[in-house]
Amino acid sequence: MYIPDYKDNPEAYEIEERSRPDEMLMLTTAGEIAVNILNTTHNANVLDLCCGTGLSLECIINHPSVSFIVGIDISNPYLEFAKKKYSKYKPQPVFIAGDAVTEPLPCDKWDLIILASAYHHIEDERKVKFLERVRDLLKDSGFAVIAENILPEYKEGDAEDYARAVKQFYAEVLTTAKQKNPNLHIYVEKLIQRVAQYGCDGDYEYKVSLPIFLRDLAKAGLRVVQQKRVWPEDSEKLSSNSGNFVLQICKE
Ligand SMILES: C[S@@+](CC[C@H](N)C(=O)[O-])C[C@H]1O[C@@H](n2cnc3c(N)ncnc32)[C@H](O)[C@@H]1O
Repeated sequence: MYIPDYKDNPEAYEIEERSRPDEMLMLTTAGEIAVNILNTTHNANVLDLCCGTGLSLECIINHPSVSFIVGIDISNPYLEFAKKKYSKYKPQPVFIAGDAVTEPLPCDKWDLIILASAYHHIEDERKVKFLERVRDLLKDSGFAVIAENILPEYKEGDAEDYARAVKQFYAEVLTTAKQKNPNLHIYVEKLIQRVAQYGCDGDYEYKVSLPIFLRDLAKAGLRVVQQKRVWPEDSEKLSSNSGNFVLQICKE
């Protein structure tokens, strides 16, 4: 069965994301927390790691406290899309093509770092290194806002149990999307299935459970200031430690 792909296809990615109430709620909440941080910061340097098509910048792009914005992503097609989207904005975001774990950046310290669905795109072996970089890049007074899809718990190292957790998560994603839009197009449904497929294949998507995520944050010397579970609204749908989370983070 043909399953369309959204990887490096910015139009397909944006359709998939905007059709998912779970993702939109997560991005909106991350945006609200970012705005609160910016409300008490002047001349803020903002870094969006794994910025993709720039969806995660939409809530803050017009904030008067922002003086410099950089987005970094490994996908040139996504970055070209983001550049066009923000071509008329001031300050104009600077988009850098590269690996978010290693690519040099134009500034050493940042007031606000956004990681929206970024951590789960970094391979498991590099996740702590990635978060350590976030800690090193934060000003002492700075914050990171992390938006993450958190899987139901699974047996670590058990591929079959991991695939079960991924499928359970995306069955719920699809249910929510269809509740909001009973006429959800089959193309969009398949795009959502593609995300789950990447997860099960252990390719491009490397989501984890909450204990693993919190363990990685602690290993990297990052402290959780606030943690919100924004989806699903009904806690019976997925266990209460899985779903979409938004966290405000600072240096330990
Ligand atoms: C799910 S998208 C999130 C995009 C955006 N932050 C958002 O919320 O819509 C994940 C992004 O991570 C990027 N990516 C994957 N691995 C990366 C890496 N090692 N360095 C930088 N970007 C990476 C992908 O190209 C993709 O744009």
